[in-house]
Order: sequence, then structure tokens, then C-alpha cells
Amino acid sequence: MRKLKKAVIPAAGLGTRFLPITKAIPKPMLSVLDKPTIQYIAEELSSVGIEEIVIVVSPDSDVILKHFGENKALSDRLLADGKDKLYKIEETTRKFNIRFVEQKVPNGLAGAILCAEPYIGNEPFALLLGDELIYAGEGDKPCMKRLAEIYESTGKSVIATMEVFGDDVSKYGNIGIKEEVDGVMTVNAIVEKPSINEALSNNAIIGRYVLSGEVMGMLKSLKPRNNEIYLTDALDELAANDKLLASCFEGERYDVGDKFGYIRANVEFALMSEEIGEETAKYIKELAKKLK
Ligand code: G1P
Repeated sequence: MRKLKKAVIPAAGLGTRFLPITKAIPKPMLSVLDKPTIQYIAEELSSVGIEEIVIVVSPDSDVILKHFGENKALSDRLLADGKDKLYKIEETTRKFNIRFVEQKVPNGLAGAILCAEPYIGNEPFALLLGDELIYAGEGDKPCMKRLAEIYESTGKSVIATMEVFGDDVSKYGNIGIKEEVDGVMTVNAIVEKPSINEALSNNAIIGRYVLSGEVMGMLKSLKPRNNEIYLTDALDELAANDKLLASCFEGERYDVGDKFGYIRANVEFALMSEEIGEETAKYIKELAKKLK
């Protein structure tokens, strides 16, 4: 049986939309509640049992390495003070097998993926874009689990999608669908951020993919356009050869690369929090009364 073992998280964006905080703090370290976004994304992989994660970071991202590394003084202190709960929380940051690679030149998504090539080679890999959180609620199948299952049973690359309408179609990669069986779509074309008239369907690509072993080689041979290498160009080639599948994700998606998406994630995660959920709900209800 094919088993997916590796993942790549491109997280090298400069985060200029979040200046000034991103001047000294790398964007993946911005927190939703008390956890950096990059940790939520790494945790999405636990439903798949992926052991090796490659995070592609921008230069000067040492603080991300620090976050996932050991802080002996802190863990010793928490243990000595009997703060078991906090120790366990801190422990969750150390359980990943992560390698970090730097993307020195900002040359697009495929450029970031190619930085991970020394660790991925021609093996299949999960790809999780660092600007999005995908939350699986009760009864939802985690998005990465669904993609991994489809890959492992078919051997084909598979992307997660969501339905979008109106002007929103132009914000995302868009897929053409040849057929759909049991929620698995066979993709026959891809168009990146189309105008409403150019859209092939209402299915937008979100930032979760499982890419087969041949994709890294395809990316290597792609020619840059406007100094960027486009993942879409490789996906388009897969689609033309009947080698690309798609599936709608279950759960909630948060675009944390966008200020409103980031606030939405913080508000909703606060509402779900055991610690402050109740008081947040109470506060929001009071606040809503004051809003016109
Ligand atoms: C990238 C992809 C696009 C996809 C989007 C999802 O675009 O190129 O196909 O729909 O992520 O967030 P970006 O948002 O990086 O411009």
C-alpha cells in the first residue's frame, strides 16, 4: 500500500500585510489565541500520521525553530513548579520531526516547494499552505486525512476544494471537472484566479494538496514566468493526463494571511476555548447589542 510519509509547509511569505508586527516576528508565528498558526498546521498532519515535515521559511526565522525546539529551562521550571498542564502544552511543540529550509529568493509557491526537494526527492508529499487553517469539527473528516486516503487508494495527486460564488471565484485556482464519483472529482483543467467568465466551475482550490512522486521532477523542469514558478502549471499538466483528483473539504477554513480572516479565526477559536469560551460569548452578545 502507498503510504504518505512527508509534508511540506511553505511559510516563507514576508507578511507585509501584517506590518509592523511582521517586521521582527515571522508571519507563521502570529498566534491564534495562544498558539502560532504554524503549529495548528503541523497538527493537521497528526490525523494522517505524517512523521517528517519540511517547513520552508524566510531568512531570519530562527524564532520558528526555537518554537519547535527544546527549551530545557522552561520545561524543567514547569515540572518543578508542578504545572503539569502547562508542561503538557509546551510538550506538544516538541513532538514534531521538522526540518527547516530557507527560501532565499521569493520565486513563487513552486519555488518554495523546490527548496524542500533535498528532503522529499521523488516521494509523494502533503502540501499545506501556511496562510490557511483548516478546522475539522465534530463529525468532519479532517481535510488531510481525506486527501491522504484518496492518494493512498489511487496513487494520484489530489487537491482540496471549496465551493465559491460570484467575485470570489477570481481569488483562487479554479478546476474543471470531468466526472465525480463518491465525492472524488477527476480534474481536467486548472485555471489560476480566473475572471468570472473564465471560471470552469464553482470549485476553488484551497491550500491543501497531496502530490504524487512525479511532481517534484515536473516542478524542476518548469520555466519561470514573471520570475515565479507556478505550481498550477504542473497541476495543469497532471489534469491534462487524467492524473489529478479533487475533493471538497469538510469543516471550516480560515485565511489567516488576511486581517479579517485572522480576526475571525481568533474570535471563533476563543468561542471554542474551554478556558475563555463562555466569557467570550457573553462579551460578543453584549457588544452586538451596541453595534448598529
Ligand atoms: C495559492 C494557489 C491558488 C489557491 C490559493 C489557496 O494562491 O496558487 O491556486 O487557490 O493558494 O489559498 P495564493 O493565495 O498564494 O495567491
